[in-house]
Amino acid sequence: MLKNRRFLLASRPTGKVVLENFKFVTEDLAAPKVGEVLVRNQYLSVDPTNRIWMTDADQYMPPIALGEVIRAGGIGVVLESNAPGFAKGDLVNGLLGWQDYALQPAQALQKLPTGLDVPVTAFLSVLGMTGCTAYFGLLDVVNPRAGETLVVSGAAGAVGSIVGQIGLIAGLRVIGIAGGPAKCRWLTEDLGFHGAIDYKSEDVEASLRRLCPSGIDVYFDNVGGPISDAVFSRMNNHGRVSLCGLISGYNSQEPLAAPRNYAQILMKRLNVRGFIILDYMGPRWGQAVQSMYGWVKAGKIKYAVDVEHGLENAPAVLNKLFDGSNTGKLLLQIS
Ligand SMILES: NC(=O)c1ccc[n+]([C@@H]2O[C@H](COP(=O)([O-])OP(=O)(O)OC[C@H]3O[C@@H](n4cnc5c(N)ncnc54)[C@H](OP(=O)(O)O)[C@@H]3O)[C@@H](O)[C@H]2O)c1
Repeated sequence: MLKNRRFLLASRPTGKVVLENFKFVTEDLAAPKVGEVLVRNQYLSVDPTNRIWMTDADQYMPPIALGEVIRAGGIGVVLESNAPGFAKGDLVNGLLGWQDYALQPAQALQKLPTGLDVPVTAFLSVLGMTGCTAYFGLLDVVNPRAGETLVVSGAAGAVGSIVGQIGLIAGLRVIGIAGGPAKCRWLTEDLGFHGAIDYKSEDVEASLRRLCPSGIDVYFDNVGGPISDAVFSRMNNHGRVSLCGLISGYNSQEPLAAPRNYAQILMKRLNVRGFIILDYMGPRWGQAVQSMYGWVKAGKIKYAVDVEHGLENAPAVLNKLFDGSNTGKLLLQIS
């Protein structure tokens, strides 16, 4: 019988996750029942939302219950199938969880697209949820027009770096905000952003005045907090904000405060729209993946993946998202 190592939620974190928040157990694994598929997990997607799911705050999915396996997206290979449509050796993705194996109902899994000439990790980054978040969150949510100025926060991250490059393809002036000179150099020298602001060492408001002389038309927000306060103060009338994430608040027990200058939404008639990528899982998803694939192959979109190793390291790896030590899409390879 196979043994399955799994991280269960033992207590709800109150800041960065610590080992005491988890129980690391080894359990016997049953064979798949009718309609089920047994998957050997290969890569886990390490996402800011893993941390959201560990809280019991109001959110877009049910929180992970105490005693449940930590929910996480991932890619794996089918070991045994007791369901039509899946066969041993198929590569699949789904919410596989922080565990070596996932026993899943077939309808909770998707087969990876075939015939695309990319490494498998692309399906957890540029051609997966991350890339589609950037694609729909920019093109659909705020409908940018050529010549406009786009500012993106969390710009060197998995979503932000793709947002900026789609902005360049759409003919926008693109300014990124990221932590540290190396990330800022990557944005301007490798990805072609028009400018980058290191929020850890610069006065963000002053740099925005310098780099956005005609103001900001579109803001793609990944972080919230003081960075967004600074951006709001530079928005143009009728500007649009795509509210993708608020990572600056995910480790806090307190609800994240609204922008300090909330009144700017009124004075400048801003349109601020939150979105959750799950709402786009449908017929348009495949078109987005095809567009992104074309841009990757044409060299118009570059992407970085940061691969860590070992299931036992999952809690420490998750914390990399919060100190900014990840470069691009953070993944955990576990087999
Ligand atoms: N709405 C949706 O459906 C959806 C889907 C996917 C992701 N998201 C959101 O998108 C955002 C980015 O996710 P991702 O997966 O692409 O992660 P990521 O950007 O690759 O990694 C997180 C980055 O956030 C930055 N960060 C951490 N703490 C910060 C703080 N206090 N202030 C400013 N920046 C901070 C760090 O970059 P620096 O080094 O630059 O600080 C870090 O590298 C998150 O907010 C996530 O929740 C939303």
